[in-house]
Formats: sequence, C-alpha cells, structure tokens
Amino acid sequence: MVVSNRLPVDRVSNPEGTANDTWRRSPGGLVTALAPMMTKSDGAWVGWHGAPDETVEPFSHDGMDLIPVALTTAEVELYYEGFSNATLWPLYHDVIAPPEFHRTWWDSYQKVNQKFADATAARAAKGATVWVQDYQLQLVPKMLRQARPDLRIGFFNHIPFPPPEIYAQLPWRQAIIDGLLGADLLGFQRPSDAGNFMRSARRFLGASVKQQQVHVKGPNGATTHIARAQAFPISIAVEQINELARDPKILERARQIRHDLGNPKTILLGVDRLDYTKGIRHRLKAFEELLQDGKLSVEDASLIQVASPSRERVEQYRLLREEIEGTVGHINGTYDTIQNTAIRYLHHSYPIEEMVALYLAADVMLVTALRDGMNLVAKEYVTARTENTGALVLSEFAGAADQLKQAILVNPHDIDWLKDSIMRAVEMTPREASKRMKSMRKQILDHDVEHWSRSFLEALDEKVIRDDS
Ligand code: G6P
Repeated sequence: MVVSNRLPVDRVSNPEGTANDTWRRSPGGLVTALAPMMTKSDGAWVGWHGAPDETVEPFSHDGMDLIPVALTTAEVELYYEGFSNATLWPLYHDVIAPPEFHRTWWDSYQKVNQKFADATAARAAKGATVWVQDYQLQLVPKMLRQARPDLRIGFFNHIPFPPPEIYAQLPWRQAIIDGLLGADLLGFQRPSDAGNFMRSARRFLGASVKQQQVHVKGPNGATTHIARAQAFPISIAVEQINELARDPKILERARQIRHDLGNPKTILLGVDRLDYTKGIRHRLKAFEELLQDGKLSVEDASLIQVASPSRERVEQYRLLREEIEGTVGHINGTYDTIQNTAIRYLHHSYPIEEMVALYLAADVMLVTALRDGMNLVAKEYVTARTENTGALVLSEFAGAADQLKQAILVNPHDIDWLKDSIMRAVEMTPREASKRMKSMRKQILDHDVEHWSRSFLEALDEKVIRDDS
C-alpha cells in the first residue's frame, strides 16, 4: 500500500454536469513508477482526493484501488495549508521563508495523520508492505506500527531534511522524529538529508545511531526496534520523456515555439511551481543585469518562465506571486521592444507533451533553487535532449546536483556567479555541450524512477528479513 497526502488522480469535471465526475491519473513520476507494481500486487493507494468536506467511497482506477481520505475545510486550512505548508515546508527548506508555529495547526496535523493511519490499518493485509510518502505524513509510521505491528513500513521524504540546528526550532521536534522512527526504512533524497535526520534523532531523542541504523528504545531503555535511514535519489519516467522527445508532433511544436518567439539565437527556460524555494527572483535578477550590462539583448535572447500555480491560499505564496509578477512587469517594461519580449511569463500548468516541446526548444535550462529535495525538471530537461545539445545551469542546493555533476553548478545566492554561469551556458561550444549532456543523460537513463522504487522496496524487504532472522 502507498500512503500519500494526495491520491494519484485528478478529478475531471463532466462538461455537461450530468453524469458523475471522472478521474484522470495525475502526471508525475511517483504514480508512473508505482502504478504497474500496484496493479500487479493487488495494492491500494490511500490519499486525499483534493476537495474539502466531501466523502468519496473507495474506487478503482486504471487497475489501482484508491482509498480516499476525507478532509474538512478546517483540516485543509490547519493541517495542509498551515502545518504542512507554512510550518514544515519553510522549516525543512532552510527557513528561506519564516516558518510559523501554531498549536492549533499541530493538533490538526496529528488528527489528520491518525486518519490516514486508520484508513491504512483498516485495509492492509496481514504482513503487507506500506510505503508512506512525504512530510505531510511523518507521524503515520509510528501510528501504523502501534496499530499493526505485522506490517513492514517504509517512509520516503521527498523534500530536504534540515540540519539539527534548524530543525531544533520546531516545538514538536521530538514527536516528529519519534513518528518517523516507526518505519523500518526511511528514505531521503541525499546522503546529507539522511545524515541530518540521524543527527536529530540522536540529539532530540537520545537515540543511538550506528552507521545507518537508529536504535529506538522502549521505556525500560531496551531497543524495541531498529530503523534504517538511507539516501534513495528519486528520478523520472525516462522512457516516457525519451519517447515524447522523438515524437515528430512534439518536435514540430518545439520549432513552432522558437518561431513564435521570433527565432532568437538563445532561448532560456525556467520551469517551477511558483514557490519561494525555487530561486525565481535570483534568476530574474541575474537575467535583468545581463540585459542591463548589454551581455544579452532581447533581440537574441528570450527567457520563458513557466510558473505553475501552487498553494495559492498560503500567504507567503500570494506575496511571492505579487513580487515575481511585479519584477517581470518591470523587466519587460524596461527592455521589451515592439517586436521582442525579454520574459515570457506563464502562470499555468502544462501537460507533459507541451513541457517536452519547451525542453526541446530551450538552449539553456535554468534551475536555480535555493533549496530543493531533488528537482525533477532538471532530470526531465536532460532526458529530453536526445541530440545531446543544450546546457543546464543547476543549483548546488538541489538534490539533482549529486547526480548531474556535468551541469554548470552554481550557488544562486551569488548573483555574479549566476550571471557568469548563464553566459557560460549561452556561449558553450556544441562540443563541450555534447560531452556534458551525454554524461548526464547516461546517469539518468541508468537510474529512472522505477529503479528508485525498486531499490527502496528491495532494501525494505531485505531489512525486515534480516531483522526477523
Ligand atoms: C512537492 C512535495 C509533494 C507535493 C508537491 C505539490 O513536490 O514534495 O508532496 O505534493 O510539492 O504540492 P501540493 O501542496 O500541491 O501537493
């Protein structure tokens, strides 16, 4: 069973409004990676269906059993927008925005985690494997272990885990580590995230940590259970992107995008959820200064910035949107000509086909996150560049930097370095670009998202078997 905040489907409203709504599989690697396994192994997926105050009965979709967890409007506000996205999200991303700590949010987080755990415990077969996903559900592993000691429990944290010096701010720092330690295996994106978690377990729970094993002690001080923490860098559905990138319709669409932009010499691209962790402001500042310095001009360079709408009811996200849109308006107002626009800003989400066309159209991809668990856009761009052309500017603070060492790595806080990196990418010779892209593509082709889920589940199996013997 998989447990995640959101179910892997989106609702499609019936246009006539007559018959019931239908569901469509959500885009994204996690679903692609797990769906075949879920179908084969009679698995089920527990998650919220996305609408408040509505109970949806369990249903099947695409051969997967889906078990919706209902959330009230208050729970969406306190557990999801509040504790998950205004406490944990900023805290785990190096406090780029100030986290807020409210006891009412914490109460709701506990209650909702219990709802997810109950729904899972009620459905899981004896000895089943349960894989809990991400920071919204960190208490679920312990709740499940208490209710169902027969289960093998995995947890994967898709976002960074902060160093103990930052994690220390959380008033509920002990309870969350204790909740996570209910799992047999805890997966993180980078070895440094796993290390941060183990240091916090030691510091705030007094756990003893040997290599990657965290010993969880009972009230009498005896070890009751050993959890293992390890890095499993997530990846993407490589085959799908690879195929789309060779599809003549999509190649034609990429040419059209270039043409519609006036065939500039260089197209630069940014693709992000509109989130303050993504470093969009830093990217815009560097681009603006390059225009100001005359190193780039709107006649020969165009930046496309896709910023998909996200968490729009959370204050920090509303403020960010105003700021980014103000900045884009300012830059375009200053540098646009009747013919050319400096930045095409698109506050939309696009289907994967259009994303791949954009990747194919872009000579330079800018991933300048200030902190990011992985950043799958970077991996998608590289995969789509089947001709080994194009250049990737990649933040050191994105997990993907561990695997994509041939990118132009940058500290996005250092605007001069960022400007130099953008110019290196713009001016890179085809020979150098090809060498770098080849090596990055090989890394990703060898490590797709199926490889990720398989390695995690095999490690979970092995660990449980070893503990039992
Ligand atoms: C990140 C998180 C996911 C989350 C996604 C979209 O990738 O790790 O857990 O689902 O952002 O955010 P949302 O709040 O819309 O689910």
